[in-house]
Amino acid sequence: MRRIVIYPGSFDPVTNGHIDIAKRGLKLFDQVIVAILNNPKKSYMFPVEERLQMLQESMASITNVEFDVFDGLLVDYAKMKNAQAILRGMRAVSDFEYEFQLALMNRKLNRDVQTVFLMTGLRWIFTSSSIIKEAARFGGDIDDMVPPVVSRKLKQKFAQYTR
Ligand code: PNS
Repeated sequence: MRRIVIYPGSFDPVTNGHIDIAKRGLKLFDQVIVAILNNPKKSYMFPVEERLQMLQESMASITNVEFDVFDGLLVDYAKMKNAQAILRGMRAVSDFEYEFQLALMNRKLNRDVQTVFLMTGLRWIFTSSSIIKEAARFGGDIDDMVPPVVSRKLKQKFAQYTR
């Protein structure tokens, strides 16, 4: 049986921390499906097509990773993809409450889908898409926290602040 895991998120935009989790997921699973949530009610900095393109470009050299977009319930999507598990990265204690709630709700909705947590690498423990966007907005150097394609896109987006 092929072990398939869904790595879901907003990926608005993808960071080096996300890439690290996806790569490490491949040590446990045969295939990682990076699934971008496209929730029409949420506002994102990057439209879903751009988030997908940034993920594809930044992980182009990694095999056994697939990229997709989903909406609706994550456990239904996981079932549709024949995935046995959901992969999430856990940073500090601040992530715990939300991740705990998400994992338990998903378990309540479908007991056959397991949630697997990987501790974020120490290097990325303080980074998140939101804080990176905030730093980039005011011209902060975020180059070693995101893949080059994301750095380029953020710089284009915030060009008016860095001129
Ligand atoms: O990167 P994020 O924003 O922390 O990812 C959150 C995500 C996409 C994992 C979560 O919002 C999600 O799974 N949304 C889909 C709807 C769902 O199934 N919610 C959980 C049970 S109600």
